[in-house]
Amino acid sequence: MKRPILLLVALALALALAFASYAGAIEAERTTALPARSQSVLRYFPDGRVAFPKSYREWTYVTSGADMTYSPGGMAMDHHMIDNVFVNPDAYRAFESTGRWPDGTVFAREDREARTKGSIARGGLFQTETLEGVELHVKDASRFKGGWAFFAFGNHDLAPAIPASASCYTCHSSHGAVDTTFVQFYPTLISVATAHRTLSAAYLRETRAP
Ligand code: HEC
Repeated sequence: MKRPILLLVALALALALAFASYAGAIEAERTTALPARSQSVLRYFPDGRVAFPKSYREWTYVTSGADMTYSPGGMAMDHHMIDNVFVNPDAYRAFESTGRWPDGTVFAREDREARTKGSIARGGLFQTETLEGVELHVKDASRFKGGWAFFAFGNHDLAPAIPASASCYTCHSSHGAVDTTFVQFYPTLISVATAHRTLSAAYLRETRAP
């Protein structure tokens, strides 16, 4: 008589455990903003440095800027520059449907030397192989105070986070249209942010000013 009862108790326990882990999995899915594969866009080392994301050119293309400067006089440059911005595809899709950048967003911005004359080109600007640097803007609330961090790669394969006192953070947070990013310069995304009303208060003030 005792055996069936024990069996029943064991069965009930197993069912309860299975349900608990199922519920746990659902909860984990709900709290993880992005699927597991996008969490591995970047490889971090124990000291906090990040490995250069070699495949960033396969991410979603966001925009390019030519000779952009941010002060009235501009910076004296002896050559032209074009920058290209990419973001990991999962983050781009998430932004398209919500107007927000999810945790796990990684932007890469590359600066390339541009030239006017070469091959058959006699005017305008084209990009060259000369890469002057790649910078990242990364959203990961579990790692960075304030949610975001910048990284800059020169010739090195590993880069530490740029300290929070750097001008990168000040300019991006006071002028970026959405969540410290420059969506006002991203032609396919600014209308998404406008529709979802995710434009920052600072940006709205700036654009309203006469
Ligand atoms: C004076 C303002 C200013 C400063 C300072 C600045 N940025 Fe930016 N940043 C911009 C603008 C404007 C864009 C949009 C560029 C474009 O449209 O090509 C941008 C775009 C970016 C992007 C693309 C993703 C995004 O956030 O929109 C990265 C990455 C980036 N900057 C990195 C840096 C790093 C690293 C530093 C500091 C070393 C820095 N920036 C300092 C104005 C600034």
